[in-house]
Amino acid sequence: MQIDLGRPNAKQDLFLRDHHKHVAFGGARGGGKSWAVRAKAVLLACKHAGIKIMIIRKSYPELQQNHIRPLRELLKIGMPGNPIKYNDSRKEIQFPNGSLILFGYCSNDNDVSRYQGTEVDVLFLDEATHLDEDWIKKLRACVRGVNEFPKRIYYTCNPGGKGHAFIKRLFIDRDFMADEYPEDYSFIQSMVYDNYALMESDPEYVKQLEALPDALRKAWLEGDWNAFVGQVFAEWRNNPDGHKNRRWSHVVDDFDIDSSWKIYRGFDFGYTKPFACVWIAVDHYGRMILFKEYYGCTRQADTGVQMQPREIAQKIHEIEKTDPVLKGRKIIGIADPAIWQMTTGESIADMMEKEGVYFSKGDHTRLAGLMQMHYRLAFDEEGFPMFYVFKSCRNVIRTLPILIYDEKHPEDVDTTMEDHLYDAIRYVCMENPLNPRKSAVWTPPEEDPLNMWQR
Ligand SMILES: Nc1ncnc2c1ncn2[C@@H]1O[C@H](COP(=O)(O)OP(=O)(O)OP(=O)(O)O)[C@@H](O)[C@H]1O
Ligand SMILES: [Mg+2]
Repeated sequence: MQIDLGRPNAKQDLFLRDHHKHVAFGGARGGGKSWAVRAKAVLLACKHAGIKIMIIRKSYPELQQNHIRPLRELLKIGMPGNPIKYNDSRKEIQFPNGSLILFGYCSNDNDVSRYQGTEVDVLFLDEATHLDEDWIKKLRACVRGVNEFPKRIYYTCNPGGKGHAFIKRLFIDRDFMADEYPEDYSFIQSMVYDNYALMESDPEYVKQLEALPDALRKAWLEGDWNAFVGQVFAEWRNNPDGHKNRRWSHVVDDFDIDSSWKIYRGFDFGYTKPFACVWIAVDHYGRMILFKEYYGCTRQADTGVQMQPREIAQKIHEIEKTDPVLKGRKIIGIADPAIWQMTTGESIADMMEKEGVYFSKGDHTRLAGLMQMHYRLAFDEEGFPMFYVFKSCRNVIRTLPILIYDEKHPEDVDTTMEDHLYDAIRYVCMENPLNPRKSAVWTPPEEDPLNMWQR
C-alpha cells in the first residue's frame, strides 16, 4: 500500500529532519504546523516498527478536526484491504508494523492525570502554548521507555495562551534552567508566507491576517511573542527609550522615592502558588511607583518545605527595617481579605501581626480592580502613565504582561496563572481609585476569526 503525504514546504522540511530532543515549530498562524505534525507522525510510524506516538491538542473537537479526521483520510482508513486501522474507543491508529499513533486532549488537571501511566516514544503537543506549563511537564513525563526508538517532543505554537511564557522562555528567549540543556532545544519559525499551499489555495486567509488589529496581526502574522491574543494588559510597555525620561514606558530606572510620598505594602498569600508582597509609593499627583517586591513560594518546590506565614512576616519586617527607602517610614499594609480566614484558630493576619506586620483588608472586587489597573496603565498625551515599576522588580515585570483572560469568565484574569503580584497591586490600586481615564484601552478577548477547521 502507498501513502501519499504530499510535499513539505521548506520550513516543514526542516522540521521533518530536525533531530533535537525538543523541537518547536511555527510561532505564527497558518504556517502549516498541524500538517507537519501529521506528516511527521506518519513518517515515524512507518520508519520505526512498533513505535508509540501521541498527538495532543487542547480539546477533543480540535483533535478530531485537525488530526483524527485528516489522518483517517490521508491513510485511507476503512478502505477494503487497508491494513491500517483506527480504533475509536482507544482513539488510536494501528499500523500493521505494530506502530501506534495515540490521540489525546488536555484542557484541565483531570485530563492530564489520565495520561499518567501512558508511555510513549514521541509526543506531539499541537498548539502547545494553549497548554498550561504544569500540564506540559506532566505530559512530557510520558516520553520514556527502554527501547532504542528516538525519544522526542515536538511543540507547535502560536504566541498567546496559558503556555506562552513557558514556550517563549525555552525556544525564543532560550533562557534555560539548571536541568535544561540548550543543545536539546530547537525552534523553526514558520509563517503563513512559508506555506505556499495555503497561499495558493486560500489567498483570502493571508488578507484576513493582514487586516487584523495591531496586536493580533503582530502575533499571528509576524510571530511577535511580545504581543499576543488574550493578553490582559495589552497596553503594557517596557520601552528602553523611556526608562530614563519615564515616557511611554511602565518600566523605569530606579529613582529616589520622596520622603513625603505615601507608602503602601500590598500582600497576597498563596498556599501552593507563590506569595507576593509589593511596596508602592504614591506621589503628589496620585501616581503609583512600585519600587520593591518580595516574591516567593510558600512551599519550596525542591525540598517540599512549607514556608510559614510567620517566616514571611519576619522577612517583610526585616526588609522594612533595613531597606533605605522603607526604614523608619509609615507603611500602610493592604492584603487579600482571605488572610483573615481562620483555619487553625489563628488567621494568617494574626500570625503576621505577632511579627509586627499589620494589614487592613483590601477590596478584592475583581473587575473594579482590573479596571483600576487599566486606568493606571493608560498613557496621557505626553506618554506619562499613572503606574510605574522599577526595573529592579523583575517578577512584576515578568508576570504582569503575560496574564491572560479566563476562558470561562472572559472579562477577568485567568487565576491559574502567576497572578499573585497582580493581586497584591490590585488591592493597593483599590485604596487609591482613579476616575476612568480617557485613553484607557479595554481590550476584550478576541474570538479566533481564523479557525480553519471551523470554517
Ligand atoms: N505541505 C503542504 N502541502 C499541502 N497543503 C498544506 C501543506 N502544509 C499546509 N497545508 C495546508 O495549509 C493549511 C494550513 O495548514 P495547517 O493547518 O497545518 O496550519 P497551522 O499552522 O496548523 O494553522 P493554525 O495556526 O490555524 O493552527 C491547511 O489546509 C493544510 O492542509
Ligand atoms: Mg494548526
